Amino acid sequence: RVASCVLDPAAVVAPVSRRTFGSFVEHLGRCVYTGIYEPGHPLADEDGFRTDVLALTRELGVTMVRYPGGNFVSGYRWEDGIGPRERRPRRRELAWHSVETNEFGIDEFARWAGKAEVEMMYAVNLGTRGVQEALDVHEYTNHPEGTAFAELRRSNGAKQPYGIRLWCLGNEMDGPWQIGHKTAQEYGLLAAATARALRAAEPGLELVACGSSSSAMPTFGTWEATVLEHAYDVVDYVSCHAYYEEHGGDLGSFLASAVDMDHFVESVVATADSVGARLRSKKKINISFDEWNVWYLSRFQSQEPATEWSVAPRVIEDEYTVADAVVVGNLLISLLRHSDRVTAACQAQLVNVIAPIRSEPGGPAWRQTIFHPFAKTAALARGSVLRTRLDSPTYATDRHGEASVVDAVATHDEEIGDLVVFAVNRDQTESVELTVDLHLFGGEPRLAEAWTLTDDDLRATNTQERPDRVVPRPTAGASVDGATLKVVLPRVSWSAIRLV
Ligand code: AHR
Repeated sequence: RVASCVLDPAAVVAPVSRRTFGSFVEHLGRCVYTGIYEPGHPLADEDGFRTDVLALTRELGVTMVRYPGGNFVSGYRWEDGIGPRERRPRRRELAWHSVETNEFGIDEFARWAGKAEVEMMYAVNLGTRGVQEALDVHEYTNHPEGTAFAELRRSNGAKQPYGIRLWCLGNEMDGPWQIGHKTAQEYGLLAAATARALRAAEPGLELVACGSSSSAMPTFGTWEATVLEHAYDVVDYVSCHAYYEEHGGDLGSFLASAVDMDHFVESVVATADSVGARLRSKKKINISFDEWNVWYLSRFQSQEPATEWSVAPRVIEDEYTVADAVVVGNLLISLLRHSDRVTAACQAQLVNVIAPIRSEPGGPAWRQTIFHPFAKTAALARGSVLRTRLDSPTYATDRHGEASVVDAVATHDEEIGDLVVFAVNRDQTESVELTVDLHLFGGEPRLAEAWTLTDDDLRATNTQERPDRVVPRPTAGASVDGATLKVVLPRVSWSAIRLV
């Protein structure tokens, strides 16, 4: 089987936004406690941060981390997590039914983010709280000095403000499961009021209004339209959240999950633009895809709800397969393809909870299969995204209609001359030879590196015992002849090919 495309250096979609490679740390299960933070671990530093997890976070290439939730944030009192640890209250955590010790809070997160070399993205609680809480936490994190909360931060050891620019106005407020769930009208008014207040405090902030928790929500579309009718002028982004899993052994549909992501993004862009048109606004609202991943949510939902109140229980610690990694690589292709409007994104989550990094309390940390396509894409995608129109065979899927067998996107860094093609083959039995015509670049490009993630066993995983069972390996069949790249994409595979 064959597929082809012609790449044109002038057909630029948009610059690669570094914020595409965001991640997410929520107070959920073992993401914070025994994930990024575990005082007493042999590899913990003076702040109690696991240095093995920090090193893997940097290797993953994460650029930004959303914090502290997620569903958690809608019942959270940020003040519980500041000041002397012995005075911090233990609280019931209702979103995930556990006990929150508050040993880790905003100051610890800021210190950790500095060490991880990531930008902080902060979500405020618009579930049980509102405008005042958002202003207070902003004053604590961003106001330089001379006011009550700024001085409190300074007395807690952070002389300089944290300068957080990107703020989420609540989390998934369309979801009935969300503490303080609201109608679109109620939330739109609250988001707009909070945004206005935050802008009065600091005009340059970038603000994200909650969009839909998934494109399957009954209010999808009308939610975005109503919220933006209220908040269009005062927010910069609307969020999208999407999790994918293989349903009932339907691998073909699962492998085509990015078709759904494409459609989701394009629908939200169309909705936002139609509100903008009605408001006669010249401004464009971008998308913050601030939760996305493979998550075996139906497994989680079929479990008995927790009855114990425990600290950092093991919750949704999905173990990822080769097929999951191929889907994750493809979801990144979809995000990059939409770089003109998706300018921020967060894979959910970073450690242990539906995460590319796993860690054991007192034990090792390792890379799940999905770590690899993320790390390679974050490292290699530079410069601009090029429009990548493929001529590919298609196949029928039950969930997403007709899907192309090959999906791909290319990035081009004019300055250093790198051209990178990211591609997946969704076929379950046959390899595909992808031909990329590069004559519009002039000259004769040279193959610099090529990586493929695939395996005879599509269900293979990385475990504590075999942490490197699944890794990307040099692509077997990649070659350049004149101005033509040819690459053999094995069945169910993800590849990245860099040319110079
Ligand atoms: O990432 C796990 C959960 O998924 C988040 O807390 C919530 O926002 C979403 O439903």
